[in-house]
Amino acid sequence: VADPHDAGHGDGVHRRDFINIAAVSAAGFGGVAVLYPLISQMAPSADVLAESTTEVDVSAIEPGQSIKAIFRKQPLFVRRLTEREIAEANAVDASSLRDPQTLQERTKEGHEDVLVTMGVCTHLGCVPLGAAEGENKGEFGGYFCPCHGSHYDTAARIRKGPAPTNLEVPEYEFTSDTVIRVG
Ligand code: FES
Repeated sequence: VADPHDAGHGDGVHRRDFINIAAVSAAGFGGVAVLYPLISQMAPSADVLAESTTEVDVSAIEPGQSIKAIFRKQPLFVRRLTEREIAEANAVDASSLRDPQTLQERTKEGHEDVLVTMGVCTHLGCVPLGAAEGENKGEFGGYFCPCHGSHYDTAARIRKGPAPTNLEVPEYEFTSDTVIRVG
């Protein structure tokens, strides 16, 4: 003779299992449904950002000065070097540097007086101070990062302090004798 309590108990367990599985499935689909629109909204802006360019007229920059622009939401330095700064940068034995690069490797042929770098310290990402800040140029005459004391020279090469590499030179080109397009 079947025990009515056993039968009742068994059905109860099955019903609970079914309810639990249904609840998990609903949560799973709910999660996908909520996340998908967020991801699809974020994707286009990331693409637009990746394709964005910045143009700078370098004839507006005095030799010896550095201006700050914005490239892909980050600071960008565009610097005009004086004849003396070019000579100083070329006088350094590049192979002895922490991140060995010549001024020529960091500029475009025929435009070695125009230095384009990201304004982001390669140590922990602070914005270094430049020629416009006068005495803050640091002992190598280029950029000085006030966060932990990295000194960059006039070619924005790391010379002293904790930064591991030179200020990054982004992709750019001259679109005329005086205008550069970065990106
Ligand atoms: Fe520039 Fe540390 S972030 S020295």
